[in-house]
Amino acid sequence: MKQQIIEAFEQQFGERPSHLIRSPGRVNLIGEHTDYNDGFVLPMAIDRAVWLAVRGREDGRVLVHSLEQTEPTDFALTDFQHSGGWAEYVKGMARALLDAGYKLAGWEGVLTSDVPVGSGLSSSAALEMAVGMAFAAVSDFPFDGVEMARLGQKTENEWVGANTGIMDQMIAANGQAGFALLIDCRDLSTEPIPLPKGTAVLIMDTATRHTHTDSGYNERRKSCERAAQFFGVSHLRDVTIEQFEARAAELDDVTMRRARHIITENERTLAAAAAMKAGDAEKLGELMNASHASLHIDFEVTNNELDIMARIAQAQPGCFGARMTGGGFGGCVVTLVDEKRAEEVGTAVAAQYQSATPLTPQIFVTSASAGTAVLPL
Ligand code: GLA
Repeated sequence: MKQQIIEAFEQQFGERPSHLIRSPGRVNLIGEHTDYNDGFVLPMAIDRAVWLAVRGREDGRVLVHSLEQTEPTDFALTDFQHSGGWAEYVKGMARALLDAGYKLAGWEGVLTSDVPVGSGLSSSAALEMAVGMAFAAVSDFPFDGVEMARLGQKTENEWVGANTGIMDQMIAANGQAGFALLIDCRDLSTEPIPLPKGTAVLIMDTATRHTHTDSGYNERRKSCERAAQFFGVSHLRDVTIEQFEARAAELDDVTMRRARHIITENERTLAAAAAMKAGDAEKLGELMNASHASLHIDFEVTNNELDIMARIAQAQPGCFGARMTGGGFGGCVVTLVDEKRAEEVGTAVAAQYQSATPLTPQIFVTSASAGTAVLPL
């Protein structure tokens, strides 16, 4: 993709770009919907990414051509409005950076991506962090991964109108090659955690899609806030299982189950990090399976296809565990497999999923990649 994007830039602008940026998608191994509860998540940046080749402009405009879209994004940094579509992520980052007091130079560039949109692999966070890096590069300020993640979340919450947490931007900006990252979403501290030896991660795209602005995402968030209020804490992170069990019967059934997912998922995520450090693939897999069940029964963010895909994957010899990944309501299953059997598991799951549904899945092995970076040209 590197060569392709440089050539596309040269064709568009007649010279080589000054900066080439790569910003990865992510897969979350465990810790789902815990981020906006101030909890723990355990994602890794993947080898699918947004690529952005840019050069600065003197006139304070931003112009971006996407190889996947017909309409370019073109606006002046002094005056811009909502326009819908992928431009919103570019404009939202500009707005968030300006509001945070950054002095921004304009730029122009070409963008491409092989992160499937709406599949739960965070194509939008990858784009936001790429745009943040483009502004940092041409305006000459340092790219701070945590600060930039906060501004990416602000873009989602305040410009796009999706009330998401900070996991996706944190992992896109701060991912490390060869490691997943245990992120404490309260203080945004991170700890790199290696995958157990001899395992591989398969991403299994169900070919069903979500959008965060019209799905039940915001509704789930509200339930969690209600539950936190009931327990007298700012976030469900602060409720232990014992405290939950002591008063669970006083909650209505839906709020009770939403809270139970978050509280148990935080525990599972910490246990998963410990299992990974101990090289215990079996344990990690069990925790992933339990996470899926909780997301299905208690949090109710799976759809039929995610349930079918996870069930088929979990039944394969060589599979340690499988679960939906990302916000849910469509998208991908993440599966931990014996690395020697990765291909065999992928082929078997694809065949069985295709006979169980009318859909054609995409299944691929992924590896933990680095976070958003400017690459040598
Ligand atoms: C989406 C959001 C994240 C997180 C996940 C669920 O990916 O963008 O902030 O809440 O859903 O874990």
